[in-house]
Amino acid sequence: MDMQVIPVKKGDFNLKDYDRMRETFSWDDMKQYFTWNHTGKVNMAYEALDRHAEDPNKKDKIALLYSAPDREEKVTFGELSKESNKFANILKNYGIVKGDRVFLFMPRSPEFYKAFFGILKIGAVAGPLFEAFMEQAVRDRLQDSEARVLITTPELLERVPQEDLPDLENIIIVGDLKDESDKYIDFKKEMEAASDEFEIEWVDLEDGMLLHYTSGSTGKPKGVYHVHNAMIQHYATGEWVLDLKEDDIYWCTADPGWVTGTSYGIFAPWLHGVTNVIRGGRFTPDDWYQTLEKYGVTVWYTAPTALRMLVSHGEDKVKNYDLSSLRHIMSVGEPLNPEVITWGIKAFNLRIHDTWWMTETGAQLIVNIPALEVRPGSMGKPIPGVEASIVDNEGNELPPNQMGNLAIKAGWPSMMRAIWNNPSKYESYFINGWYVSGDSAYRDEDGYFWFQGRLDDVINTSGERVGPFEVESKLIEHPAVAEAGVIGKPHPERGEIIKAFITLNAEYEESEELLEEIRQFVKTGLSAHAAPREIEVRDSIPKTRSGKIMRRLLKSWELGLPTGDTSTLEE
Ligand code: PRX
Repeated sequence: MDMQVIPVKKGDFNLKDYDRMRETFSWDDMKQYFTWNHTGKVNMAYEALDRHAEDPNKKDKIALLYSAPDREEKVTFGELSKESNKFANILKNYGIVKGDRVFLFMPRSPEFYKAFFGILKIGAVAGPLFEAFMEQAVRDRLQDSEARVLITTPELLERVPQEDLPDLENIIIVGDLKDESDKYIDFKKEMEAASDEFEIEWVDLEDGMLLHYTSGSTGKPKGVYHVHNAMIQHYATGEWVLDLKEDDIYWCTADPGWVTGTSYGIFAPWLHGVTNVIRGGRFTPDDWYQTLEKYGVTVWYTAPTALRMLVSHGEDKVKNYDLSSLRHIMSVGEPLNPEVITWGIKAFNLRIHDTWWMTETGAQLIVNIPALEVRPGSMGKPIPGVEASIVDNEGNELPPNQMGNLAIKAGWPSMMRAIWNNPSKYESYFINGWYVSGDSAYRDEDGYFWFQGRLDDVINTSGERVGPFEVESKLIEHPAVAEAGVIGKPHPERGEIIKAFITLNAEYEESEELLEEIRQFVKTGLSAHAAPREIEVRDSIPKTRSGKIMRRLLKSWELGLPTGDTSTLEE
């Protein structure tokens, strides 16, 4: 194969000794960077925040550079530490204790980050929900987690089905509340009254910290449970992969409703005490470039779908901005097209570094390290301390260049510790000591990994993971829809779009209006990113004899591919 290789750009990068580190590194070596290594007292909020606030040289450093279309704010480590103490005190007043689940359903704002760290400080488990979720998505997650407190805004409160949530004792509202009754807690009022001193709850490294719901190919969304121990890997990858240095201005574009927005939008930069740009609202290419220019962003972590959007707006647009501060770009969430890397070199004079990981893995595992050459189209190599391989369905390792299951030797620090309330689901991820990702890939002779696709029916649309079952379930709630099968259909800019095949109940006739109504039904009931862009009405949906929808067959039909084994197809 004629392989393109992009050499390391001249510069002073972390982890120059990758090969040696892979041989000799042990995760124990990383402990020295944490306060708990000598005090024995653990809490992520301490390491990411209070530790810097206690350091006279760091306390007035800007932690959060917040910007939204209508608001700008700078928050120092010292301030964020105190403000999160206040929030922890509020939770304490309402009886929240270690291990309770406290959810956040709100847009990115300084209040989000204050509340988030307050939750960690009391030892509770934070559950951030993406602001685009609609009622069904909110209900599923709050019910499953048995959350006791929710922090939300007056606008989003409408989507919280309070009558269906018996465990939800308190709702804290950020923003102007119309309801004068004492049904809700006013964030602003309580923060003003709260003390900024708080005795942090020291926890165990294996105690819970975070619940991120994500989709599989079957069933409702699963609560992926992460513990404080993950900080070891957030810190390590912050150094090796994000290449963070003291004076960096870092920007991760992901929302904290998704794991990238917590692991790399919160933990990695703040464990390193680096200034973190948080941009709220929707983005246009001009917003992106303006943000990079205005704050002098040096390290930028984004996603292929965003980069493809920038590519489609052309190289000339970039030239209108001074992006000379930028020194390092990374991408995650979907395959990073080699053409985008080529474009990045022309547009920014920088390589774009692909990184691979998942909600379940908690942190980056296979990456393009700045100190190594980039092979466009490859996800890169495993970080030190992580063993990755390609295995067959029994968990046996396959030789180079053979496609199979992308698998990771279980036991890396940030690995999920449970699927909430679902131990059998958790166990189903592991075969023969390997965590099996559900992605197919191969490894070349030099140890670079190449992504090939998903092995299950999980859809990746604009970098967002959508479970077809969730969409199908919502579709059949619509009175016109009898049955539904949902697939991901390849799309040049979005990676995949969601396509639904449906059958209609007898009394309904197909029409443009009806299909649009059904689409809106999913959009307003579940979430915008889960709404099918295409809906096709059919006479029947292919199912197995046991009644499972054969999405694979739908996909083959859609793409005009051979249909393969259909022996289980219902007559
Ligand atoms: O299929 C892979 C794809 O995104 C999935 C994980 O999605 P999620 O849990 O939402 O986490 C996304 C961000 C951590 C994976 O199973 N994926 C993630 N990164 C890449 C990728 N596909 C190709 N290349 C990547 N770099």
